[in-house]
Amino acid sequence: MAQHGRWTNRFSYMLAATGAAVGLGNIWKFPYIMGENGGGAFVLVYLLCILAIGIPIMMAEVMIGKHGRLTPSKSAAKLAQDSGHSTKWKVTGWSGVVAGFLILSFYVVIAGWAVAYAWFGFSGAFNDQSPQQIGKLFSDLNASPYPLMGWSAFIIVGTVIVVAKGVQKGLEKAVNTMMPILFVLLAIMVGYAASTGDFNQAFEFMFAADFFKLSWNGVLIALGHSFFTLSLASGIMTMYGAYLPENTSLVKTSVYIAIMDTLVALMAGMAIFPIVFANGLPAGAGPGLIFQSLPIAFGQMPLGQWFGGGFFLMVVVAAFTSSIALIEASVAWLVENRGFKRWQAAVGAGFIIWAVSLLTVFSLTGAPWTKLTLFGDVQTTIFDVIDYTTANIMLPLGGLIIAVFAGWIVDPKISQATIDTHPTVYQLWRIMLKFIAPIAILAVFFNLIGVL
Ligand code: PFF
Ligand code: NA
Repeated sequence: MAQHGRWTNRFSYMLAATGAAVGLGNIWKFPYIMGENGGGAFVLVYLLCILAIGIPIMMAEVMIGKHGRLTPSKSAAKLAQDSGHSTKWKVTGWSGVVAGFLILSFYVVIAGWAVAYAWFGFSGAFNDQSPQQIGKLFSDLNASPYPLMGWSAFIIVGTVIVVAKGVQKGLEKAVNTMMPILFVLLAIMVGYAASTGDFNQAFEFMFAADFFKLSWNGVLIALGHSFFTLSLASGIMTMYGAYLPENTSLVKTSVYIAIMDTLVALMAGMAIFPIVFANGLPAGAGPGLIFQSLPIAFGQMPLGQWFGGGFFLMVVVAAFTSSIALIEASVAWLVENRGFKRWQAAVGAGFIIWAVSLLTVFSLTGAPWTKLTLFGDVQTTIFDVIDYTTANIMLPLGGLIIAVFAGWIVDPKISQATIDTHPTVYQLWRIMLKFIAPIAILAVFFNLIGVL
């Protein structure tokens, strides 16, 4: 473990793990998929998924890392072996590194949008702009690939620098200062939206559950998002578990992280939807939702230049702490398995991510070769396919494997000792992992395929 280091204390571990969880998933993705899937009912299913599936699986992942103290696949192999089973269970680690890598390839591009918008905000580009002009700002940004390549390169370079510096010096320092800023800025935005936007309509949209508006595909998206937003099944939580200080409560920290993450997502919704409704914008506008709606308000509010720039800077910060986590799995794997130095692994991974991110860049700028036709003549892009398959197929499947592994395969003596909590809490966790999580995940999949 000497090659990876440990978090110096519980507080910085929690900051880093919360920083990994809170990101574009909360501020960019949650509001727009909620908007596309009709609001309240989607939110309710999402919250249930977090509670009954997400938190138990997060605990399982941290447990795997804490027991193995190695990268995800090696930790899983060790735990399987110590439980008297085949090391083939290391697939739990493997699928995660691949999913994390693919996620990062589009994540940096969306984060690049946010960098561009922070710049637009501070430079006054939103000031007194009509909704049409704000819409044009967004379509102009996506008119050609070069600006997007540049903005996302910005995020990648920053990520590589922090990760190359190592766990303690780089990551800890970065998240320690960034997370509190994020919370303060978000709270200000909610306050502004509540006082000037259509708060009642937004509140009803988010919290009045109308199940007729929710399809089975919407349920799968809520399930997939509960994994995405908590950074589950992508190797990250196992990685952080490997760095977990010895006497830190795995249960308390997992619950804490889930609460913070959910809070930020709901706050982001409450900052965005009052403004969306007050300006008569479509809730289902898609991935561009926050970029096409919020700047209208920033353009009109007092000090909007600072709030606008500050808000998108906050999105960048949140995305950045998640990117650090996303690249860490690949980097640690290269260090451990291929004998690279940390900085070599970070730079190498950065270049490959940037190259793969071009698939998303060209999807967004509308290059014809990125357009795909799926079954039933559904039109989509490579970006949509990467986003959909990672979040809604790979992560839930990975989660299913982790649940089965931790619930059925791992020696209960080991899991109980590693989780180290009250016996009742432990038993509850085991029931969730053995039965509730696998059945729920399979039920959603089968329902979508039309088997049930
Ligand atoms: N949880 C992050 C978010 O909500 O933006 C995204 C993410 C980070 C997903 C790390 C997966 C991951 F491994
Ligand atoms: Na999140």
